[in-house]
Amino acid sequence: MGLDALDAAGPGAGPVTVQRGLPAGAEQRAAELYWEAFGRKLGPALNPPGKAVPFIAAHLHPDRAVCALLDGRLVGLAGYQHGGRAFTGGPALAVLRAYGHLRGLHRLLLLALFERRPAPGQLVMDGIAVSPDMRGRGVGSLLIEEVVAVATEQECREIRLDVIDTNPRARALYERRGFTAVRTERTPYLRRLLGFGAVTTMHRPVGTRAGA
Ligand SMILES: CC(C)(COP(=O)(O)OP(=O)(O)OC[C@H]1O[C@@H](n2cnc3c(N)ncnc32)[C@H](O)[C@@H]1OP(=O)(O)O)[C@@H](O)C(=O)NCCC(=O)NCCS
Repeated sequence: MGLDALDAAGPGAGPVTVQRGLPAGAEQRAAELYWEAFGRKLGPALNPPGKAVPFIAAHLHPDRAVCALLDGRLVGLAGYQHGGRAFTGGPALAVLRAYGHLRGLHRLLLLALFERRPAPGQLVMDGIAVSPDMRGRGVGSLLIEEVVAVATEQECREIRLDVIDTNPRARALYERRGFTAVRTERTPYLRRLLGFGAVTTMHRPVGTRAGA
């Protein structure tokens, strides 16, 4: 299967293409995809959904994502952190402004649990989501390979990601794409609140560019 474009949607629907950066105007759709994929995990920090989706949409850095498009529609995206910039996340003040100072405080603490800063030479992939009607057709794999291409160009040593214990299919996908588990942090106290009890960190080495 070619990994630059994919006839993922069946005959007549046109190929899925992958591009760097979130297209202007796709912020709301990107936030909806993220919420659909990660709402269970992010809910305690950002609920209700009517507030969460606009909040996510308003605090995106479009240059820190790779996107999959089908006939101009955003059908998947992978956000990453590199060079001190992540795809999602506003300043603490924005959370307090949106949710109120009192209610915002514990939300900030919850959001801090998801904070993952790259070590030198790392690119952190921190959120890949494919539209439910498009899953299982290779779109996620295309996005991962595009993130690898970004990391290679940025001369990163490795890509890091975290996967929760309730998502074994995502973990299987990462293993097929060359990631290996390096450690697991058990968080049984989070199971009731956030729905998962362990987080596994995975790495994939990145080859240096030819001639670099
Ligand atoms: C994980 C995800 C991005 C994969 O995208 P995709 O386009 O379905 O991926 P591909 O088609 O390239 O690969 C399919 C593989 O993805 C994995 N996968 C994970 N969740 C899946 C789902 N709900 N449906 C289909 N495949 C899924 C499986 O390993 C699957 O292979 P299998 O059918 O042999 O089990 C997508 O399923 C998704 O958005 N899930 C919800 C968000 C999420 O869990 N993100 C990862 C957080 S660490």
